[in-house]
Amino acid sequence: MAEERTFIAIKPDGVQRGLVGEIIKRFEQKGFKLVAMKFLTASEDLLKEHYIDLKDRPFYAGLCKYMHSGPVVAMVWEGLNAVKTGRVMLGETNPADSKPGTIRGDFCIQVGRNIIHGSDSVESAKKEAALWFKPEEMTAYKSCAVDWIYE
Ligand code: RTP
Ligand code: MG
Repeated sequence: MAEERTFIAIKPDGVQRGLVGEIIKRFEQKGFKLVAMKFLTASEDLLKEHYIDLKDRPFYAGLCKYMHSGPVVAMVWEGLNAVKTGRVMLGETNPADSKPGTIRGDFCIQVGRNIIHGSDSVESAKKEAALWFKPEEMTAYKSCAVDWIYE
């Protein structure tokens, strides 16, 4: 169960606003294990596929444009309940509904500039990780802290 993985991406606004270190720090400090990371400006095709479930929503085109507007940090983090806990750490989709202490609650204001993406289910996490990373880009290693994070 400690091997559950979630796909997290720092969006272009998070990168431009200098929040990369702060966001990575939160996942590290929580105890999750980084298994993959890359810095890239994602292609429009990749982003359209990433958000394919939202293709009929009025904000779909604008969302893909925003996500393509600059580089993002794509990551896979691993740990117990990584998907659900990751979403709790992010806060609500609309930062106005996000509690202080969450990433969106602390660092952003509008839903269209909400700085970070996190998978919403184990199934979509698998799909997203496979879309953004080749299998060989996901590393296998034992964290030296594992026995101090899990009993
Ligand atoms: P994400 O996928 O980025 O982690 O966000 P989420 O699950 O919390 O929300 P989702 O419904 O999947 O929406 C994806 C992203 O689309 C933008 N959005 N804009 N203008 C709007 O009403 C609106 N609604 C959603 C946000 O950037 C949201 O994170
Ligand atoms: Mg989503």
